[in-house]
Amino acid sequence: MSNDANNMGANKEESGSVVSCSGLYKTYHGLEVAVLNGIDLTVNAGEQVAIVGTSGSGKSTLLHLLGGLDAPSHGDVRVLNQDLAALSEAKKGNIRNHSLGFVYQFHHLLPEFTALENVAMPLLIRRMTRDQALTLAADTLAKVGLQHRLEHMSGELSGGERQRVALARALVTKPQCILADEPTGNLDRHTAHAVFDLLLEVNQSQQRSLVVVTHDLELAKKMQRQYRLVDGKLQSL
Ligand SMILES: Nc1ncnc2c1ncn2[C@@H]1O[C@H](COP(=O)(O)OP(=O)(O)OP(=O)(O)O)[C@@H](O)[C@H]1O
Ligand SMILES: [Mg+2]
Repeated sequence: MSNDANNMGANKEESGSVVSCSGLYKTYHGLEVAVLNGIDLTVNAGEQVAIVGTSGSGKSTLLHLLGGLDAPSHGDVRVLNQDLAALSEAKKGNIRNHSLGFVYQFHHLLPEFTALENVAMPLLIRRMTRDQALTLAADTLAKVGLQHRLEHMSGELSGGERQRVALARALVTKPQCILADEPTGNLDRHTAHAVFDLLLEVNQSQQRSLVVVTHDLELAKKMQRQYRLVDGKLQSL
């Protein structure tokens, strides 16, 4: 009986939206034309969404808004049904650290730390013990094929290796939603597909939602829903 009740609770949570936005507009100071021009998007638990678009079409802007890294000019963004605009910076940071995994287009690793420490960082921020954090970080780096690069400083890694470290850093907290901005942009074809497949596997085995920006249509087609960002709006592909 109590098991049933627990399951129902879990299902209810799983069926809800993880990240959503409505009426989203973004105009940057100095640009005459809005980069985002009325975007409505709902990403439910476990869903895969791909976003493609030409360079400068606003893909990174959209992802940054969904992840609460920047604020929209109009419209709202909800993460786990919480309106980001209504949250303090501290609460937003907390939701980002606990519920979202962000893979930046330009990885943003900390240069003075090793690959292992970079991946352990979000766990240390959560006050996990250092030993536990380093063990989990090493496991996650092994998943992206970097078990032999744990002690390299991020400046000693190749571009593709850095991108995989950034991916491991986003996965290590087991976030409900992974927002990945060109996660395979610097990788050769074979590695790009392997990394992409890893993202899909995490999505499927652990019911993590996935929003991926990519310029690679072939990779985008592997995902359940695909959109093209054109003139600041999302078109279904
Ligand atoms: N902080 C900013 N201030 C002013 N303009 C900006 C800023 N950030 C982005 N832009 C502009 O907004 C537009 C969209 O940028 P964005 O980075 O979202 O594009 P993108 O689709 O991710 O492109 P790419 O495929 O090259 O990464 C571009 O024209 C860019 O120059
Ligand atoms: Mg971009």
